[in-house]
Amino acid sequence: MKIISIPQEMTSWSREQAQHGKTVALVPTMGFFHDGHLHLMRKAGESADKVVVSLFVNPTQFGPGEDLEQYPRDFERDCKLAGLENVDVIFAPEPSAMYPHGAQTIVQVDRIVKYLCGARRPGHFQGVATVVCKLLNIVQPAFAVFGEKDFQQLAVIRRMVTDLNMDVSIIGYPIVRESDGLAMSSRNIYLDSDERKSGLCLSGALALAREKVGQGMVDAGELSRFIENFIKQHAGTSIEYVCFSDCESLEPVQEINSETILAIAVKINNKVRLIDNGFLSGDSFTHN
Ligand code: PAJ
Repeated sequence: MKIISIPQEMTSWSREQAQHGKTVALVPTMGFFHDGHLHLMRKAGESADKVVVSLFVNPTQFGPGEDLEQYPRDFERDCKLAGLENVDVIFAPEPSAMYPHGAQTIVQVDRIVKYLCGARRPGHFQGVATVVCKLLNIVQPAFAVFGEKDFQQLAVIRRMVTDLNMDVSIIGYPIVRESDGLAMSSRNIYLDSDERKSGLCLSGALALAREKVGQGMVDAGELSRFIENFIKQHAGTSIEYVCFSDCESLEPVQEINSETILAIAVKINNKVRLIDNGFLSGDSFTHN
């Protein structure tokens, strides 16, 4: 496995692959790999001849007071784990290589960032869209794999790729969970054992919502109140949002149908922010 840190070298490597008729799949990450990341790498390997994993803790997607400095990092461990997944290249640029002095271009996706996490984290998706656009330009992959765990991020990237005619297929991958249902996240290591128990309220809420929808409760307002009450029964939880949204536009819906996702963000002890989401009815059940 090669480790590349210079963007121009990364592009040359990808061009060489193209000259040999090899397709490339990219998995963009911020490192500190867990099983979710590893599943994405495997999916990339099934989709293309060569796999590039980018590892870059992108400063422009963290707001003031967010955990940029504390974001967990372990480059050596990450390289070992990626090496076991048949990854061909780790692309790990320095911030100064990604944002050289004088840079002043950003990618701004419009309406879709106004909901859910975008409403609470101003500038976050501008940082994500800009860095992902740059990574796609540098690596020039035929495919890029993203997790449905960050459902809004995936929707924003699909929108950007369509709107800017970018020549890449975006592959979404289902949420990978711990055996108890907690969605895997690099930030789960911040949770102590009681907080982890409280964190199960997110996957529990999704299961409960599916059960209620199955019983015919399809009014989003009524179900929201029900789900919020359920979450509040878990120690240390404060709800950031519980939203029933259209899976493409992310606009809030009044009545739940097979295109509706439930998206949840909850803070545990005002310390760790957890998100989760899922479809609620029909064939889409298989997404999770
Ligand atoms: P990061 O949080 O490291 O996540 C990298 C990829 O792993 C994302 O596509 C994310 O959705 C996916 N992922 C995380 N947890 C997952 C889980 N439990 N199941 C399935 N997929 C999961 O997301 C980012 O980095 C950054 O915003 C990035 C896209 C790299 C831009 O900086």
